[in-house]
Amino acid sequence: MKKLDVLAIGELNVDLILNDIDGEVEVGKEKLAGDMSLTLGSSTAIFASNLSSLGANVGFLGKIGVDAFGEFVTQKLEEKGIDTSLVMADMNLSTGATIVLNYGEDRAMVTHPGAMDFLSLKDITDDHLSRARHIHFSSLFLQPGLKKDIHQLFSRAKKLGVTTSLDTQWDPSEKWEFDFEAILPFVDVFLPNETELLHLTKATSIEEAIKKLEPFMNNMAVKRGNKGSVLYQPNKELVHHSGYLNTQVVDAIGAGDSFNAGFICKYVKGASPEACLDFANLTGALNTTAVGGTGAFASPELIRSMALNKFNISIDL
Ligand SMILES: Nc1ncnc2c1ncn2[C@@H]1O[C@H](COP(=O)(O)OP(=O)(O)OP(=O)(O)O)[C@@H](O)[C@H]1O
Ligand SMILES: [Mg+2]
Repeated sequence: MKKLDVLAIGELNVDLILNDIDGEVEVGKEKLAGDMSLTLGSSTAIFASNLSSLGANVGFLGKIGVDAFGEFVTQKLEEKGIDTSLVMADMNLSTGATIVLNYGEDRAMVTHPGAMDFLSLKDITDDHLSRARHIHFSSLFLQPGLKKDIHQLFSRAKKLGVTTSLDTQWDPSEKWEFDFEAILPFVDVFLPNETELLHLTKATSIEEAIKKLEPFMNNMAVKRGNKGSVLYQPNKELVHHSGYLNTQVVDAIGAGDSFNAGFICKYVKGASPEACLDFANLTGALNTTAVGGTGAFASPELIRSMALNKFNISIDL
């Protein structure tokens, strides 16, 4: 079997998006939605899809139910060329789903995590981890079955010679329990956004957060929305990247996942952290030129032409 460049480990769900709703929903009443779409949800899936579109050989490890939504997410991953042999379907569980009620710029969401809650360390063997040169784990706080053991997942990967990256994403419970002393020594690239980093470390600035993490941390790229990003490397000056300005943002859904995909795409090719950061800012910015998290990454041709036309950058995919 050909070795994967990257195994993405994380949550899987569908997004059922309702648009043009005739007024705010109220308990006891029925509303009509003028438009509806069913899409592949989940931040880890957006990461995996876009990384695959950027040319990497990607596999996915996650949990779904034996149901129509489970078939749908598997099919969508496969359409992107992702190896789904480690997507585990459990008869006793249902595939996670988010119902999105879209009201212009604002939205209300209800999520049933379903199978996402049940992925645990014992589901992930050394053989699974060894199938890839790199593992990326995302959405720590959406996966209670893995949260407390996550340092073991990363330490096992490192023992097997696999490089690693982590994006915790937001903690919906806002408790921000994160044992960075135990986890970060085994994470080669830590990829939080600025707000998450400050919550995780209980700091008030990136510099203060770095002081707390420094004894345990390898590389970190901090995402800062339209302000770009910051790169930390042990014993080196911080690198500030102002980002690639997009003056016509469609939406920023999934920009962080696309940033991660760009960073890891270069990282597994052995590029310098600075080069990874630059490409990550470009893929993050590209994400904002089209609808949703994957719209701008539909094909290598689209990625190439948008990079050239919007940002005057020629990329080799
Ligand atoms: N409006 C924008 N213009 C240009 N680049 C952007 C814009 N918004 C985001 N980016 C790029 O994308 C990167 C990631 O975006 P952001 O900081 O929103 O991540 P995030 O908060 O993790 O997002 P997500 O909601 O996807 O998890 C930024 O660091 C930047 O490089
Ligand atoms: Mg994010």
